[in-house]
Amino acid sequence: MGQILLITGATGLVGKALVKQCLADGHTVHYLSTRKSKILQQSNYKGFYWNPQDQTIDLACFEGVEVVFNLAGASIAQRWSNAAKTSILSSRTDALALLYSSIETHKFPVKQIISASAIGIYPDSKTRYYDEKFQGTDASFLRTVVKSWEGSLKLFPPLGIKTTALRIGIVLDTHEGALPKIMQPIKKYFGAALGSGDQWQSWIHIDDLVRLFMFVLEYKLEGVYNAVAPNPVQQTELTKLIAKILQRPLLLPNVPEFVLRLTLGEMCAIALESQRVCATKIQDAGFKFNYIELEPALEDLIP
Ligand SMILES: NC(=O)c1ccc[n+]([C@@H]2O[C@H](COP(=O)([O-])OP(=O)(O)OC[C@H]3O[C@@H](n4cnc5c(N)ncnc54)[C@H](OP(=O)(O)O)[C@@H]3O)[C@@H](O)[C@H]2O)c1
Repeated sequence: MGQILLITGATGLVGKALVKQCLADGHTVHYLSTRKSKILQQSNYKGFYWNPQDQTIDLACFEGVEVVFNLAGASIAQRWSNAAKTSILSSRTDALALLYSSIETHKFPVKQIISASAIGIYPDSKTRYYDEKFQGTDASFLRTVVKSWEGSLKLFPPLGIKTTALRIGIVLDTHEGALPKIMQPIKKYFGAALGSGDQWQSWIHIDDLVRLFMFVLEYKLEGVYNAVAPNPVQQTELTKLIAKILQRPLLLPNVPEFVLRLTLGEMCAIALESQRVCATKIQDAGFKFNYIELEPALEDLIP
């Protein structure tokens, strides 16, 4: 039977696809947006304004809601100036703090928060194979952000609310996110692998990610799950496969690390860090990926 689901970050890459699936499955979507221009009022898709930074929220969004999907957060794909870093971190912790204080103060009967998290919680390593039990960390910006983000989820269980954190890998989508950015230079004949090219990239097809969120909803899964396909690849392989599908040669040597550092600044970590992440826990819970290998995923996504 259809439920009323509250979604934050519903207007983003993952959010739009998730909304589409929720509506197709007969649910009603309430969503919170920081952009007034994005707020629509339709019978099964209702937008509400919030601003986590100044802790304002339209409390009507909670009406009839038992499950919240939390995807909100300022994009990490921007130059990491001090102001951007503050916004990347605080947009995520403030969003959860605002949901918490609203639910706590008004005793809204929310039962579960299913939140995005990220594989950036795992330290850069070319040799480790990360599962959810891994506890190590370092002081890097990405680790700090994701630790604090997941840390904010700990507010909810004392209210009797279940929490789920999905540590999302690189989301592959035709129109937004990493894939079109990687495809662009390859299409124009100046594609090349990044850095050493042997860094591990743990990816997931957007359709599988949406199915995974819906699986967690259906089976009320709690705790931390990696949201990555079972077969991460190294950067060179990703670049080569995209070039193969686009029928373009790779003529240039790898883009050296220092060039990426100079052009992207500190955010080059997104392209250069290596995280080989394991999907076994969600598979053991019964989830079946449609896209286990990268090549069919790319064939599906690249027009
Ligand atoms: N895409 C990936 O490869 C990937 C990988 C790992 C983790 N994730 C995480 O998964 C979540 C969804 O990813 P996505 O790719 O869909 O992100 P996205 O396209 O950047 O969308 C995120 C949404 O968050 C909201 N937002 C932006 N700035 C905000 C702020 N300062 N305060 C509150 N909300 C703000 C926006 O919605 P409104 O403008 O409507 O408020 C935006 O549509 C993100 O938190 C992201 O970090 C994504």
